[in-house]
Amino acid sequence: MRVLVLNGPNLNLLGVREPDVYGTESYAALVRRVQARAAALGVDVKIEQYNGEGAIIDAIHGAMGRYDGLIINPGAYTHYGYALHDAIKAACIPALEVHLSNIAARESFRHTSVTAPACVGQISGLGIAGYEAALAYFAEKRP
Ligand code: DQA
Repeated sequence: MRVLVLNGPNLNLLGVREPDVYGTESYAALVRRVQARAAALGVDVKIEQYNGEGAIIDAIHGAMGRYDGLIINPGAYTHYGYALHDAIKAACIPALEVHLSNIAARESFRHTSVTAPACVGQISGLGIAGYEAALAYFAEKRP
């Protein structure tokens, strides 16, 4: 089971960025936790972060035929990134959308996800544990 984790804009600033909302753990800590959980589950994981929508789309295209699952936190593109929605659909790789914060409990513009309908489901509000839960989902789906 090969899983690609794609993180979108501003997630590189984790730990510094609005710690009251996103927590005090750094992006490096997120990467370490995801890698550790993937190893424990026997999942082959790669984690990438991009600030531009085009770069995320290129990464999704590049994942076609190479990965069995996609875990994506599209950051603010979640709320208006129609091209990202189309890329997830086009790639035909089962995807889970993850958000650190509970987007349903925040500003109204965050209540809509245009990318979630292209995904199998969405995990929101569990912090880094949301990525770990998404990995566990894919580990269970292992052929
Ligand atoms: C986020 C939620 C988005 O609304 C926001 O723009 C982000 C992070 C989250 O992980 O909670 O950048 O995707």
